[in-house]
Parts: sequence; structure tokens; C-alpha cells
Amino acid sequence: MSMTLLNENLDLSSPSFKKNAHEIYKHLRRHDPMHKITMQNGQIGWLITRYDDVAQALKDDLRITKDRRDQSTIPPTVKHLFDHLLATDPPDHTRLRSIVSKAFSPKIIESLHSQIQQITEELIDRIESKGAMDVIDDFAFPLPIAVLSRMLGIPEEEHYLIREWSNAIIAAASDNQKIKEALPSIEAFAEYIETLIIQRREKPADDLISHFVYAHDNGEYLTAQEVSSMIFLLIIAGHETTVNLIGNGLLALLENPDQLELFKKNPHVAPSPIEELLRYYSPVEIGTVRWAKHDFTWYEKTIHQDDLIFVSISSANRDPEQFEQPDRLDLTRTKNKHVAFGNGIHYCLGAPLARLEGKIALTALLRRLPNLSSAIDFEELTWRPGILMRGLVRFPVSF
Ligand code: HEM
Repeated sequence: MSMTLLNENLDLSSPSFKKNAHEIYKHLRRHDPMHKITMQNGQIGWLITRYDDVAQALKDDLRITKDRRDQSTIPPTVKHLFDHLLATDPPDHTRLRSIVSKAFSPKIIESLHSQIQQITEELIDRIESKGAMDVIDDFAFPLPIAVLSRMLGIPEEEHYLIREWSNAIIAAASDNQKIKEALPSIEAFAEYIETLIIQRREKPADDLISHFVYAHDNGEYLTAQEVSSMIFLLIIAGHETTVNLIGNGLLALLENPDQLELFKKNPHVAPSPIEELLRYYSPVEIGTVRWAKHDFTWYEKTIHQDDLIFVSISSANRDPEQFEQPDRLDLTRTKNKHVAFGNGIHYCLGAPLARLEGKIALTALLRRLPNLSSAIDFEELTWRPGILMRGLVRFPVSF
């Protein structure tokens, strides 16, 4: 029984937790909304599961900080890359965010529509005649990195480099120990981006790197290191999340044939099916790591300075106090204030892009491959281990 998992040593990254998470969350929301966890290295962490508490913790900059405390495992040559938006508090965060947010306005993102559509159709062209594929490897994975590479203005023939490096970067982002292994790739990536920055300084183009190079706040420009770390963050924050939106979204639809039919008939059904897919199997399971700024009390528990705070987005998005029948996929749900993109100052910068990619990808896939179905029983699908994300290891389908 999964509840036997529920003790102080709850391992949020384990396959068994991933499998039973919603059952465990249900119990915790009711009986232990601030659940203490002792990590393998002895550090204390707290798992927050109720919607109201999650929404509060995500934006709580009085008691909680995102400034990375322990950088000892990061080699000095690449340290600057890890000083990005998601690892800074105001006032640094405010300055960086105001400069980069102009490049991610809904209007700019909407102008990418036809490019994203084209990349998606090309990917499907390649698999259409095969009759079977792994949705993750063959479709969901290549799509966001192709989109981001184009936005950055990286020449088509060098996209493969970004793909290789981003694999290493993503592995390192989820596990500090893996940074060493990924170091050659991260350094090669940093060097490549620095060359592009120099080129754009000499000759600006209509791309994201030029935007970052020339964007300023009251005359203050980003340094080359800040531009590099921003691009590094976009790869970490924008890739696997979008892969999971596509994979999880498709799974949710195939598991619920009535909703699949509704989506196929009208992928734009109001308010927006993508919002419900984001809520139902949220691609980010637990918000990025946070620490207690000082000692404080919550639900009569004493949280000590530097304790880890784990904010469960997945749990909040299934809280019955906030969502009617939360375990039901309902594409026509109107009251849907999900927190899949976070809350407060770190609210996802790429949300308009993610929504657009998710919508185009799923709509095109089900239009072009209308009889697509899972090639294995849903029970055989497994979730990737790791604390941060909820995403399938693989998802074989036939069509
Ligand atoms: C379905 C896809 C996505 C989901 C579910 C998602 C989710 C999130 C969440 C939950 C956060 C806040 C994390 C926290 O507070 O701990 C976040 C932040 C962020 N996301 Fe996304 N994201 C997605 C796609 C993207 C894309 C495509 C990009 C850009 C290419 C992106 C860029 C960012 C950035 C830069 C931040 C940090 C913002 C800040 O600290 O001010 N995300 N995202």
C-alpha cells in the first residue's frame, strides 16, 4: 500500500513516489499539509500540498528565498550560468526580468505561430508513414529545442549542437552531482553562446540573442555573462517542461476518450483545453528549490532557516477545495486558476510560448494522425524519476 511510503524519508524523486503521488497528496492535504522530510544527506525539507499554501509559498519572498545557498558543487568556469532568474531574489531578479520580459510578450510570441506550425508539420512529415513512434523521443523532445534554436537565431545546421548540449544541461540542472559529468558540454555551450553574442554586438539580427544584447533598463544593459545565463535558463526552463506538456497532455486525452473526441472536434473549445491539460498532469510537479530565509512557524511546525521548501504544484492543481471534481479531466472547465506556471515574481516567463507550442503540437498531431492510440497499456507507462518534473520516460503509440 502506497501510504507505507509516507514517512519522514519520503523520497520525492523516486519512481514509487511518482506513481502514487496523487494518493499521497490527497492524504497530506487532509492530515499533514506541511510534511517534514529528512533528505538522504540529512537536510530537512518541507512539502507543501494545499492549493492556498502553495499559491502563497510560491510568492512568499518574506519568509522564503530562491537565492542558491550552496554553489560548492558548481565549477567556477560555469558558475555565472547558474546565476539566473530562478536563482535570484529582488532587486537583481527585478532588473533581469524587466529586461528579458520584453522579448516574451504575448504579441512577440504570437508572431512565432507560423514558424512553430512549420516545425511541427515537418516533424510529423518524418514520422507519418512509420505507423508507430515514441511520442517523447520522436516528437515532443525535438520540437521545443527546434523552436528555441530558431528564436535564438542559431543556423539550422548547428541546431544539433544545441540539442546535444541541452541534453547535458538538462541532466545537470536536475542533479548537482551531474554537473561535473556535463561540464565539457556546458563549457562548449557557454563558449558557443559567447561567440554568438560577440557576433550580434557587431551585427544585430532579428533574434533573441540580439534582443538580449541590446535590451536595457534605464540605460543599463545585460553583461555577456548575464545573456549567457539567460539563454542557459531558457533551455533548462523551456525544454523539458514543454516536452512534458505534450506527452502528459496526449496521455490525459487518450485516457479520457470523451475528452479526446471533444478536443478533436474543436481543439479551441472554450475556455482552453491546454489550461486543463496543464492542471491535470502538471509538467512541473514541484516548484524549483526554495529555502527558509529565517525560522518561522507554519501549521504549528517550526521551519528553520535554510530548510528546503518543496512546493507541490501538482498537488495544488488537484485540491478539491479549489477545483470541482479535481481528478476529472474536463476541457470545458471554467473555474481553473491552476498554478502550473507558478505564481508571483517567478511566474513562468515562457507561459505564452508554452501554451502556443502545446496547442499547435497536440492539434497537429491529432489532426494528421487521427487514429493515434497508445501502443501499450497505460499502466505500463512510467514517470521519469526526479523531484522537479512530471513526465513520461517513453510513450509508444501507433497510428
Ligand atoms: C508547459 C511548459 C512550461 C511549464 C509548465 C513551465 C512552468 C514554470 C514554472 C512552474 C515556473 C516557476 C518555477 C518556480 O517558481 O519555482 C517557471 C519559471 C520560468 N519559466 Fe517556465 N514553464 C514552461 C515553459 C517555459 C518555456 C517554453 C520557457 C522559455 C523558453 C520558460 C521559461 C521560464 C523562465 C525563464 C522562468 C523563470 C522566471 C523567473 O524566475 O522570473 N518556461 N516555469
